[in-house]
Amino acid sequence: MKVPISLTEYFSADLLQAMLSTLIEHELLESEEAFHSNRFLNRSVVPHIKNLSERFNRLSDQKVSDHYWKGSSNPQNLRMAYLLHFMPANLYRMACVWTELNRLGFQWPKQNQLRAVELGAGPGSATSGIAIAESISESKNSSLPEQLKWTWIERDSQMMKLGQTWNQKLFQMKNKPWTIQKNHQKLDLSQPLFDRKTPAFDLWVSSYFLNEIEDTPEDLAQYLIAQWKTHLNKNGIVILIEPALKKESRKFLSFREALLKQVEQERKFSLQVITPCLGNQKCGALMEPEDWCHEVVRWWRPDYYKKLDQLSGLNRKDLPFSYLVLTRDRRPIEDILPTLSNTSSNKRHRLVSPSYATGRDSEFYLCGQEGKTKAQIRLQKEEVPTRGDILLGTELEGMDHRPRRVLSVDSVLNIEGKHPVQLIPKRNA
Ligand SMILES: C[S@@+](CC[C@H](N)C(=O)[O-])C[C@H]1O[C@@H](n2cnc3c(N)ncnc32)[C@H](O)[C@@H]1O
Repeated sequence: MKVPISLTEYFSADLLQAMLSTLIEHELLESEEAFHSNRFLNRSVVPHIKNLSERFNRLSDQKVSDHYWKGSSNPQNLRMAYLLHFMPANLYRMACVWTELNRLGFQWPKQNQLRAVELGAGPGSATSGIAIAESISESKNSSLPEQLKWTWIERDSQMMKLGQTWNQKLFQMKNKPWTIQKNHQKLDLSQPLFDRKTPAFDLWVSSYFLNEIEDTPEDLAQYLIAQWKTHLNKNGIVILIEPALKKESRKFLSFREALLKQVEQERKFSLQVITPCLGNQKCGALMEPEDWCHEVVRWWRPDYYKKLDQLSGLNRKDLPFSYLVLTRDRRPIEDILPTLSNTSSNKRHRLVSPSYATGRDSEFYLCGQEGKTKAQIRLQKEEVPTRGDILLGTELEGMDHRPRRVLSVDSVLNIEGKHPVQLIPKRNA
C-alpha cells in the first residue's frame, strides 16, 4: 500500500517530546538526557525490545497469550520499550488503513459524535493512529465527527494508564476533543464484553490483539458476532489489524471465513468485508495450503527509532501486517466506498503482491471475486501498479492460462486516486 508522504513522515520532534514526557510522568524514564545515552538504551530498552520481538514473532518459547506485562522481570522497562518501539509502528499501520478508507470515499454518518472501542488497547496505538491519520492534510475533508468517545479494553491497567497520558497529549497537539474511558478487563469468551445498558459503538478497532486469544477462529468469530449484534451500530465499522506472519495471518483468514460462514446463517445480522477484499468472496489465499495475505507499508523512521532498530539488530523500515475492515452496513459496497462505483464487482482486483518485471511485462498476484491468480500486464513503466493498488474494469484471460493476461483495464485506483491506464498491446511493444 502506498501511503501519503505526509503520513510517512508523521513522527515529528514534538511527538517524541510528548512520548518522553509521558514516560517521565509515569516514572519509567528519569530524564530526557538518559534517553539520549546509548548505555541507557542498551541496558534498559533494547533487551526488552528483543524479548518482545521474539515473543511476538514466535521465535521464543514464551507464549504470546501470557500476561507478559506482569510476568516480566522489569515490567516498567518492558512497557517503556513497547511505547518507544512497537506503539509508533502499530499506530502507523492503523493510520494507513484509515487513510485508505478515506481515499476510497468512505463517509461517516452526519452526527455530532462517534462512540469507538479499542480492544486489547495496550497504549492505545490504534486510537493514536486514527488521531494521526485525521490530522494529515489529505484528511482535511474527512467526514469524521469532531468528537470521538473512546472506550478501551485491556487486561493491563498500567499499560492503559501510560497510553492514556500519551494519547491525551496527542489529542491536545492535534486539536481533538476526544475522550478515553478505560475498562480494565480481560476479554474472555465465556463473558459478554459489555453489559446490556452500554450503548452500541460506531467503530470497533483492535491492533495486534486477536492473535493473543488462544480460542479457535470459529469460537472467536461466534463470540465477536454476538458482541457486535448488541454493541455495533447498524452502519458501524470494524477495523482489525493483525501480524503478517504466515501462521497468524492464515489463522486470521480462517477467522474471516468463520465470520462470513456464520453471518450467512443469520437472518437479522449482516456483515460485509470492504477492504482489503472488496466483498465477501471466498479467501483466495486460503485456497493454497502454503499461502497467506498481507500488506506492507514503508515509513520514515525517526532517528531515535533507527537507533533502537540498529541497537536491537532489527530493521522496521517496512511494516508488514494483515488487516480486515468490516461493516454491518447492508448497502452495496459501491455506496459505502463510492470510488469503486461504475465498475462491476467481478471486474475489480487488488494487487496482493509486489509487481515484478518479466521482460516487458509486469507480473503480480491479483485477488478478486474468483479468487487469487497470477497475472501479467504490459503498461508504461510509470503506470505499473504496486501491492495494494486496485484495478477497475479488468478483463482477464481464461482460467487455463497461467499466468493470466490482463486483457483490458479501465483504471487503477492508488494513492493518487483513480486514473485511466492504457495497456500496451503485446505486438507493438
Ligand atoms: C501486542 S499488544 C497490542 C497493543 C496495541 N493494541 C498495539 O497495537 O500496540 C496486545 C495487547 O492485548 C492485551 N491482551 C491480550 N489478551 C487480552 C485479553 N484477553 N483481554 C484484554 N487484553 C488482552 C495485552 O495485554 C496487550 O496489551
